[in-house]
Amino acid sequence: MIATVTLNPCLDKVVAVDGLIVDEANRWTSLDRYPGGKGIDVSRSVHELGGTTTAYGFIGGFYGMLVQRLLDKEGVPFSFTQIEQETRTNFIITDTRTYRQTRINAPGPHISKTELERLRRKIRNVPNPDFLVFSGSVPPGVPDDIYKQLIQKAKERNVKTVLDADGQWLREGIKAKPYLIKPNIHETEQLLDTELATEDAIIRAASKLIESGIEIVVISRGKNGLIAANKGSILKVISPQVEVLSTVGAGDSTVAGLLLKLAEGKPLSEACRYAAAAGTAAVLTSGTELCHRSDVERLFPQVKVEEIS
Ligand SMILES: Nc1ncnc2c1ncn2[C@@H]1O[C@H](COP(=O)(O)OP(=O)(O)OP(=O)(O)O)[C@@H](O)[C@H]1O
Ligand SMILES: [Mg+2]
Repeated sequence: MIATVTLNPCLDKVVAVDGLIVDEANRWTSLDRYPGGKGIDVSRSVHELGGTTTAYGFIGGFYGMLVQRLLDKEGVPFSFTQIEQETRTNFIITDTRTYRQTRINAPGPHISKTELERLRRKIRNVPNPDFLVFSGSVPPGVPDDIYKQLIQKAKERNVKTVLDADGQWLREGIKAKPYLIKPNIHETEQLLDTELATEDAIIRAASKLIESGIEIVVISRGKNGLIAANKGSILKVISPQVEVLSTVGAGDSTVAGLLLKLAEGKPLSEACRYAAAAGTAAVLTSGTELCHRSDVERLFPQVKVEEIS
């Protein structure tokens, strides 16, 4: 069971426009709504890939109800903590002529102390997950080191934790030494305050993070695949080259694929191969749509894994 925690879920409204013109009235050709937030996306991908999952996090108001209804429709189990304020809405404008996407993200509702306490209690009682995933941004009212606190608590009961966040949330969170992290290049550069222009530099960064006490470090590199490390090995994972429709959600599908295989007891190399297949499958789908299982299975044998050391 892969449990995910999304502190700042959203309803993604995706509008398609055929040739967006700024400063003019545009007409949309389609309007889609998706349940969003990075942990929720991991749960949706796990579910699509045949795994068992439950999505935890904060939910509120009318948009919160819509998020739950959309998850229900997909068959994704959830157990949210209700909040007073409204779940946020993100707007995504897809230009179907250029394939360019413009995102307008909302900061999210304010979380009260009581609501945060309720969520802490709930997460403490998640029944024995294989992994507990903390993913995405932190809403107003919640302290910057919340992931550190939640990871520490989970580790006290021997739950394997995963952190996929950026900026201060990642910086603070890794102080609790999560079991696994999956930053992209940019997030890793920010975290270590260094430029990672070469493959050697990325390998050194992964090793440094392993030495700091994290068990598995997977650094994702967009179309260049992944560099993964654990105590004993460093792997270079090369994704097949495909035509990109939208890279939104590639990282979340990657995390889902990775954890599914690790939970099955597969070695890191096979888990990374599946992870890269899932990430690549996600770029084949448009808008905020995630990976499709059939694409993942088809791409899986095309991913190359090299042992570096
Ligand atoms: N253009 C691409 N072509 C092929 N595969 C890709 C491409 N972009 C991403 N991927 C696959 O998806 C994985 C994750 O991508 P990326 O490094 O962009 O994650 P991310 O920045 O965390 O994404 P997200 O915005 O979802 O958080 C890559 O390691 C790769 O396997
Ligand atoms: Mg990411």
